[in-house]
Amino acid sequence: MTSTSLKGKVMDVTGGATGIGAAIAKSAALAGANVIVDYVVNPQQAAQFAHNLNEWDRRNGSVEAFDADVSKVADVQALVAEAVRRYGRLDVFVNNAGIETRHSLLETTESDYDKVMSINLKGAFFGAQAAARQFIAQGTPGVIINISSVHEDWPMPGNAVYCLSKGGMRMLTRNVAVELGKKGIRVVGVAPGAVNTPINTDTVADPDKVAKLNEAIPLGAIATPEQIGDVVAFLASDAASYLTATTVVVDGGLMQASLGL
Ligand code: BGC
Repeated sequence: MTSTSLKGKVMDVTGGATGIGAAIAKSAALAGANVIVDYVVNPQQAAQFAHNLNEWDRRNGSVEAFDADVSKVADVQALVAEAVRRYGRLDVFVNNAGIETRHSLLETTESDYDKVMSINLKGAFFGAQAAARQFIAQGTPGVIINISSVHEDWPMPGNAVYCLSKGGMRMLTRNVAVELGKKGIRVVGVAPGAVNTPINTDTVADPDKVAKLNEAIPLGAIATPEQIGDVVAFLASDAASYLTATTVVVDGGLMQASLGL
């Protein structure tokens, strides 16, 4: 079997200081990658996270934190440039940063809309563009991984703009994969279901909601961030070299089970 190692690979992970992004950084670093995560709000937390991870296992890859706001195109470009400045190259770009407001269509304000779309979709679009330009300039293959959601397909009443942004990300994955395949660039979507992360703090703090979700999930439990991070590390590796233009759903069976309701 082709190796799942990421030794020598350089990876950017947006929104990588917390939640699923932090787990992706951890799995990738354990697989040998040098990872750069961006942070916006909490530089201390990001630095501490990178420090902890590097202390934890020095034989593997590394994690560094970089100040970038993915809703700004120049910042996304700077994140790619930082990988090149530090390590001379970029191999994998993970569009992970995402927020949700949990508002329905009727409740959504213009500022809700702009905030969610600029981080979840505009950030991902220009992240893919900056990464692809770098891969092409290097003359090497590259991988772009878009962390979407089961809600790229599955409506979530009361979370309208979030679902819209993830539906857009689904098409971003497919369109860009078709545009860039011949250049040796793979583009893969990952659609987690319910995961124990800061985006779900309210749900996870409510035992009734947790029990209902666990009941609805065929594998019986909300995912840990690591269960998503490990899949992303695999998808970034050469062992997934024929996988592109599609979304890998990592939801414990939740979406399929919902079809049977
Ligand atoms: C959303 C969560 C939700 C989960 C499952 C995720 O994309 O961010 O709020 O619990 O999907 O529905």
